Amino acid sequence: MCGIIAFTGNRAAAPILIAGLRRLEYRGYDSSGIALHSRNKIQIHRAAGKLSQLEKKLPAKVAGKSGMGHTRWATHGEATDENAHPHLSTEGNIAIIHNGIIENANALRKALEASGVIFSSQTDSEVLAHLIAATPAETLLESVRQALLQVQGTYGLVVMDAERPGELVAARNGSPVIVGIGEKEMFITSDANAILSHTREVVHLDDGELVSMDQKSFQLSTLDAASATRESITITHDAGSLELEGYRHYLLKEMFEQPKSVERTLRGRLDHRFSTARLGGLNLTARELLDIRRIKILGCGTAYYAAMCGANCIEQLARLPSSAEPAAEFRYRNPLIEPDTLYIVVSQSGETFDTLAAVREIRRKGGRVLGINNVVGSTIAREVDGGVYMHAGPEVSVASTKAFSSMLTSFMLLALQLGRIHDVSPQYGTVLVEALERCPEKIAEALEQDAPIAAMAKKYCVAKSMFYIGRTDAFPIALEGALKLKEISYIHAEAYPASELKHGPLALIDPDTPTIVLLPDNDLLDKSISSLQEIKARKGPVIAVTNSDSPEIVELSDDVIRFPACHQFLHPLVMGISLQLFAYHCAVTMGRDVDQPRNLAKSVTVE
Ligand code: AGP
Repeated sequence: MCGIIAFTGNRAAAPILIAGLRRLEYRGYDSSGIALHSRNKIQIHRAAGKLSQLEKKLPAKVAGKSGMGHTRWATHGEATDENAHPHLSTEGNIAIIHNGIIENANALRKALEASGVIFSSQTDSEVLAHLIAATPAETLLESVRQALLQVQGTYGLVVMDAERPGELVAARNGSPVIVGIGEKEMFITSDANAILSHTREVVHLDDGELVSMDQKSFQLSTLDAASATRESITITHDAGSLELEGYRHYLLKEMFEQPKSVERTLRGRLDHRFSTARLGGLNLTARELLDIRRIKILGCGTAYYAAMCGANCIEQLARLPSSAEPAAEFRYRNPLIEPDTLYIVVSQSGETFDTLAAVREIRRKGGRVLGINNVVGSTIAREVDGGVYMHAGPEVSVASTKAFSSMLTSFMLLALQLGRIHDVSPQYGTVLVEALERCPEKIAEALEQDAPIAAMAKKYCVAKSMFYIGRTDAFPIALEGALKLKEISYIHAEAYPASELKHGPLALIDPDTPTIVLLPDNDLLDKSISSLQEIKARKGPVIAVTNSDSPEIVELSDDVIRFPACHQFLHPLVMGISLQLFAYHCAVTMGRDVDQPRNLAKSVTVE
């Protein structure tokens, strides 16, 4: 989704802004632009398309030691040069970049037009530039504050004034704004990854806050003009991990990082002595955990499928009724919030609007909510009552892979901790601790199938449509496998519980429609093999994904993807890796932009 970077200091701003925008590219965008402050003027440069289009348009030397840059993902108005940010006020003295949606933009636009303002874009954001210019005050901060009091909607906003060199003002309501503190220089960004090569010391703004800064200092305040203070935090992950490091795509790199990222999720959280897991950040005592009667898990997209896996896993081990629901559906249906239910939201970015809205709905009604997040200091992580950081490291590719496996790992840890509070015996607890310790090794073994899976993908990616089926805990993995294929290869794919096939979808099975059948070696294997027979009887091509040695599977399948034998607690996690590889190789064979698939953004911070 849209990205923000701004800088004020003693160095040339343009290269810093362009490099920052490059770091934001992974979030998805369709145009970009920068504004530079030089000789009491603001110069803007904007271009539709990729960042390289903007670079082509830049003069050889771009002066200015303060400025701001933006990657836009079109919502109001097409992806054109004119609609790209920054936007200028009519006189050219105020420039803005904006993430979010201004809900009363039409009314504000009409009022501004009536007073003679001429708009030059179709965006809702442009009203902010004109509104601020039309709201004079002693300071830029005060103009912005007064203007924002007239605005309804969400914003992560940065403002520059031609008459105030080196000064930047930013404001936040529903869209992240982070201040980066450097050596005699300051940054503003919507995503800390954009500034990590300059500073690791950051301050996150809360909703309803503004910041004004020059190169030496910054001041936080609120929309009600009260001053605010906040300790800075230090970001610890490695900026190097944002590079491709020799891989062809971020997606490939992130899939192959999973043995390490899952190891980080597990680190320090397994307790051999008591045969359990310990998640330090839950902020719940053992007594409070014991009082929980029900678990409800919420997320969107891949995170929702991880939530389904988590609910299965917790219900099996802790014997607590557990269910998952898409966060947006939950928040719009006026849900009942119960005091003895533990609500858990799961989100890689920690910024997904629907998930955040669900958190706010639960808390407003007095419920207790935990977060499973990857981005430290993200909005969701800051608004929940406690939770788990996945420590998967930054995920750059739009399609989630390593975050998904770390979500599943976090849920397995939580299930074990809750299970041991309920009726998992110390003996079985030890078996599960040892199984979890082997996750990284099992994932690495699953990744060894890369070459045979690539060959299979070449054969099957000509299909117009594919089915994915699995039973019980394999079903959410089928859903996630189908989502991955859709997202990056654009092949239509649908997932069903294997048992549902005969209730309708079987009508679509034919020789041109391959089905990926998940057959983990468990008590339901015979039942899953009967699904193979149903498909073969309709001449449907079958790709079996299995860790069983059953000769029947080989007989009934056109191709077999093998994943390693492991404790069945790990099956969903390990099977999921094979499906990621399959989707990736289909997409690469078809020449798709695997890291930035069409129409998609990395984090969806709007409704
Ligand atoms: C994953 O491949 C997706 N692009 C998408 O479904 C994503 O998982 C979803 O938007 C939720 O994001 P989050 O985990 O950052 O909340």
